[in-house]
Amino acid sequence: MSVTNIVLIGFMGCGKSSVGKLLAKKSEYYFLDTDAMIESSQGKSIVSIFEERGEAYFRCLEEETVDWLRSNVSKAIISTGGGMLVYCEALKEVGKIIYLKVPFEAIVSRMSKEERSKRPLFQDMQKAKKMYEERDLIYTHKADLIIDANTSLDEVLLRISREIS
Ligand code: S3P
Repeated sequence: MSVTNIVLIGFMGCGKSSVGKLLAKKSEYYFLDTDAMIESSQGKSIVSIFEERGEAYFRCLEEETVDWLRSNVSKAIISTGGGMLVYCEALKEVGKIIYLKVPFEAIVSRMSKEERSKRPLFQDMQKAKKMYEERDLIYTHKADLIIDANTSLDEVLLRISREIS
């Protein structure tokens, strides 16, 4: 790989973290997850941050995280929260943006109840579907690379590796 960072974007549940971890294992890059960074810096889960401080506060934390990544990180594979690129334009400057595209119905059928419960914006199915449609346009427009990720993990890794090596 010859880019500074790989930034994985896509809708909630599209597999950014699973793909990112495996990709990092198979390369000399290390793995970062922006939701996990925010949770550990706040000492709270994403659900608690949304409940106690609201979404706007969470978006500020995401912006701070992007600023920090921009000036401190290289050679990383970064899994981002599904709204990060939508709200933080500067994410584009962190690295090569790869959109893991999975149809909404496939995301829903893959996601367990427990995984959904960790996502405050994935509680109402109709709202989530509308959000998916709006975000798909934004992700498509802003990504450097779009990967059809509606397949096995191994195949997704192969598709990404082919494109970035
Ligand atoms: C969000 C996605 C979540 C998390 C937060 C908000 C979003 O991350 O950042 O609940 O706005 O799409 P995942 O995409 O990892 O679920």
